[in-house]
Amino acid sequence: MDQTTRATRFLAADEGAIQEAAKILREGGLVSFPTETVYGLGADATSGEAVAKIYEAKQRPAFNPLIAHVPAMQEGLALGQFNAHARKLAEAFWPGALTLVVPVSSDCPVSLLARAGHDTIAVRVPDHPVALALLRRAGLPVAAPSANVSGTVSPTTAQHVADGLSGRIDVILDGGACSVGVESTIIACLGPQPVLLRPGGIPVADIEQILGLTVRRSHEGQDAPALASAQTKQAPGLLAPGMLASHYAPRANVRLQAVEAYPNEAILDFAASLAAYATTSPAYFDLSPNGDLRQAAANLFSFLRQADAAGVSTIAIAPVPSAGLGEAINDRLARAAADP
Ligand code: TXA
Ligand code: MG
Repeated sequence: MDQTTRATRFLAADEGAIQEAAKILREGGLVSFPTETVYGLGADATSGEAVAKIYEAKQRPAFNPLIAHVPAMQEGLALGQFNAHARKLAEAFWPGALTLVVPVSSDCPVSLLARAGHDTIAVRVPDHPVALALLRRAGLPVAAPSANVSGTVSPTTAQHVADGLSGRIDVILDGGACSVGVESTIIACLGPQPVLLRPGGIPVADIEQILGLTVRRSHEGQDAPALASAQTKQAPGLLAPGMLASHYAPRANVRLQAVEAYPNEAILDFAASLAAYATTSPAYFDLSPNGDLRQAAANLFSFLRQADAAGVSTIAIAPVPSAGLGEAINDRLARAAADP
């Protein structure tokens, strides 16, 4: 099955089109929609398989955590643990071009794939009538990176989106040009001092004025999730147990490209290639018994955690093809193997 070719409908964002787009989101499809910053490429954040389609369409070689878009503060507060700084900023700037990274709430419905395995979540309420109407109608948190192919500039018109993603997504909602034109400012509120992870549409000076303190700048080029993780480690006292490592790395050793398994190893299989060892293994999971990479991506982070939870010293991982989404899956597996 070719998972990347689909007929893309280009719709003027009127009430009927928004309703139709919301239905497509609820059914697991991909919808590009305008926000005040840039056009987003949205999918149901609670569905790993829907989120896998985003990475597929963007041809992203690695899993980046995605921003969960919600229609109002109330829905945002349900996804994460907002400390006093985060609440203040949400009250001052939402809806608006500010994304807040906070620890996930214990019952956060956003899929592990949308969070790229992190225990933190990025949340934003966009300030655009089409985006807000779509989010309200969808009734789901919507994971949405900028609607461009990986490595190209962010789109600020529906035509930019069509130029890059036509034939790869279900709907483009045309709501005109984006007024801000740069992505949202991202602030991590994980410890006592907020940290700027990405400068963007809301000036940092405005944020500092609301907080009455200086926001720490991350260093140029530093990977945002890693930075958030480092900050979490600096302020462990303020965070719930389990929040310490914002980026999940298995405790067990990871053995890649396994073509056989030892009896004491947990197994992370693909396409049943290690099925012969299932009964002798203390924990056996198949990312996708019929070899579907989208399903494998959706299962990746949760199965890695479950295999690790078996308390084994090694997880044997079957080879995963490197085409399409396989590249990002293999990237994550290589990181799991490299973590000390
Ligand atoms: O203006 C915007 O923010 C647009 C519109 C569509 O809302 N979205 C956007 O998404 O720019 P994206 O995926 O292109 O950039 C999101 C950034 C990435 O750099 C990602 O690493 C960071 O947010 N991010 C997401 N979740 C994070 C987390 N849990 N911790 C740290 N950084 C995170
Ligand atoms: Mg982007």
